[in-house]
Amino acid sequence: MSETVYTVAWDRETNSILYIDQTALPGRYEVVRCTTVDLLADAIRRLAIRGAPALGVAGAMGVAVAAAQSRETDFNRFRDEVEEAAEMLRSTRPTAVNLAWGIDRVLAEIRNAASVGEARSRAVAEALAVADEDEATCRTLGRFGAELIPDGATVLTHCNAGALACRAWGTALGVIRSAVAAGKSVRVIACETRPLNQGSRLTCWELAHEGFDVTLITDSSAAYLMQTGAIDLVIVGADRITRDAVFNKIGTYMHAVSARHHGIPFYVAAPLSTFDLIHEAKDIIIEERSRDELAYCGEQQLVPANVKVLNYAFDATPLELVTAVVTEIGVLRPPYTDSFASLQARRY
Ligand code: MRU
Repeated sequence: MSETVYTVAWDRETNSILYIDQTALPGRYEVVRCTTVDLLADAIRRLAIRGAPALGVAGAMGVAVAAAQSRETDFNRFRDEVEEAAEMLRSTRPTAVNLAWGIDRVLAEIRNAASVGEARSRAVAEALAVADEDEATCRTLGRFGAELIPDGATVLTHCNAGALACRAWGTALGVIRSAVAAGKSVRVIACETRPLNQGSRLTCWELAHEGFDVTLITDSSAAYLMQTGAIDLVIVGADRITRDAVFNKIGTYMHAVSARHHGIPFYVAAPLSTFDLIHEAKDIIIEERSRDELAYCGEQQLVPANVKVLNYAFDATPLELVTAVVTEIGVLRPPYTDSFASLQARRY
């Protein structure tokens, strides 16, 4: 995978979406064509497309698909139909703010158009812009973040904040890619990230494919490795950054607590499109996923049928545990009330 991997791409010939089916990895590398908003919603719910920035691109392209495929010729009815499809798409994953952000960017173009034809072409153009900007943003963010990684460092990461979670390059893994591209030697410790194993299936796949030094651990090994001095720093991505917390894959908070206890830097890498400074952590819905994700491993039953299961997809790490946030406009440090202040205007 040394060539650029586009997790989500637009096919101009057919006005449809091509995506890497992340449920099939690492066993099979499969590119799937998605021709309707319903199929896209299903792919997002199943996590065939996942990761906050990739969801932003998918959301934008989903609205473009709805616009391209509508048969309505009356502009008001066309707009209502596309808005309905957009709302359905928005509801598929509530925590990752990029999904709504990508959808809203394309909806704004449609609302500002004067005809169905103009709306269709503006929708596709904006979706392509969202996709292109995402890769450029990740590369810029990666260069800023690379400065934080010492040569010879061992870096722990959780979930997959790599090329697969974005359009390409990645956020947390983008920082590691940029550090390695700058000539540094970096070892990666990847947490498996139960229950859907985005760490073992996806982070290990994309890093091993490119020849990075990556080692898999169970999520519960992280604190022990920090205690033994085996980890120099932690870097993760984010699904949403509010005024007071970073939302990311469940388990991120425990790594932040452990890192603080052991005096290890805990970094978050995320584009400005992941910031939601209107809200605080208490306002945010944390997605709960199905019992079966935890209760089964393939066909194998892992828990008695009558036992209740709690399966939260994300947790909220208080900002006081975050050493710095790497963005495309630079590295933001505490106090975050000051360093976030100038972002309000840029994000929305
Ligand atoms: O449930 P997922 O796989 O969509 O969760 C993804 C994460 O938590 C990532 O760490 C986050 O989206 C950042 S991706 C650059």
